[in-house]
Amino acid sequence: MGLTVAVTGPTGEIGTAAVRALEDDDRVERIVGMARRPFDPASRGWKKTAYHQGDIQDRSAVDALVAEADVVVHLAFIILGSHKESERVNLAGTRNVFEATQAAERPSRLVYTSSVAAYGYHADNPVPLTEDVPPRGSDAHYYSAQKAACEKLLAETTEGLDVYVLRPCIVAGPEATVLLRNLPWEQAAPYVPDPLRRLLGAVPGLRPVLPDPGVRFQLVHHDDVAAALAAAVAGDGPPGAYNLAADGELTIGDLARAIGAYSIPVPSDVVTVTAGLVDLLPLMPSQAEWIHAARHPMIMDTAKARRDLGWSPRHTAHQTLKAMAQARR
Ligand SMILES: NC(=O)c1ccc[n+]([C@@H]2O[C@H](COP(=O)([O-])OP(=O)(O)OC[C@H]3O[C@@H](n4cnc5c(N)ncnc54)[C@H](OP(=O)(O)O)[C@@H]3O)[C@@H](O)[C@H]2O)c1
Repeated sequence: MGLTVAVTGPTGEIGTAAVRALEDDDRVERIVGMARRPFDPASRGWKKTAYHQGDIQDRSAVDALVAEADVVVHLAFIILGSHKESERVNLAGTRNVFEATQAAERPSRLVYTSSVAAYGYHADNPVPLTEDVPPRGSDAHYYSAQKAACEKLLAETTEGLDVYVLRPCIVAGPEATVLLRNLPWEQAAPYVPDPLRRLLGAVPGLRPVLPDPGVRFQLVHHDDVAAALAAAVAGDGPPGAYNLAADGELTIGDLARAIGAYSIPVPSDVVTVTAGLVDLLPLMPSQAEWIHAARHPMIMDTAKARRDLGWSPRHTAHQTLKAMAQARR
């Protein structure tokens, strides 16, 4: 008998790739997914997957989801939301998933997707970050603080389970374009009349300009994250935390070139000052707090995942960026 795997958030950018990898994995017999919106697994050609509409804030829905699973994969999260909504879903909802999995008789393994953001954006972070560095989070960035809080919660609530914590950097690829969709230019695009937008795009001098403080970052392809998730689901390698990032590092300049924008170098102090202003000003949308992610290089060492999980990312950071940019075009 193969594994039954319960997945929260199977319709997201990582969830879609993860379910595809689990569908192709002979060790997995059945997948049961849950998210809030209606979804038909057959629309993606998935054959082993059943889908239930439900909210992780509803403990009884989570209890029902995990009851029949050998392994629970928790992906449901609000990445770009208000403080209130993200707190409800990411903290209270995640607590439901962890506690329900621990309380249920059948599951023996829990796979949780944390993030590089759990380490927090601290000037004294080592470069590269290894899994031995405690996930301190950054209070000034809701997502980072919540990711660190969830890891603490995980340690408190999951005794007796084999727990795998995956910490990807920014996930990208043809089916993961969240990074590009949230550039300021893209945010503004819906409000610009179509003919004007096309005109602006065609005039080289008016192409979008991205400020580049020179801070390096990593990317990882959604299919490579999915491969790591499948390995964790099957229990390849010991439980524990695993950093995930592709080979190679990028700057905003690389990103600008890939999407046909310009970049202008700015001193990294500009980011620090802007982040300070975001912290001081009331009524700033929570999205503005993402500026903290550009303050310091958040470069992770991925040797542990390669050695212990047998993980071998098939796409470099540059290939992943190119694939995302092409898909977005
Ligand atoms: N994308 C990245 O760059 C990245 C990097 C590192 C770590 N991660 C982590 O990886 C995980 C998955 O990320 P993702 O990129 O796949 O996110 P995503 O594309 O935003 O998808 C989120 C998924 O969660 C579901 N969801 C949201 N709120 C829910 C709720 N209250 N109850 C049930 N389902 C809910 C969504 O479907 P509905 O809206 O229909 O409910 C969707 O299926 C998250 O924990 C994220 O923090 C992501």
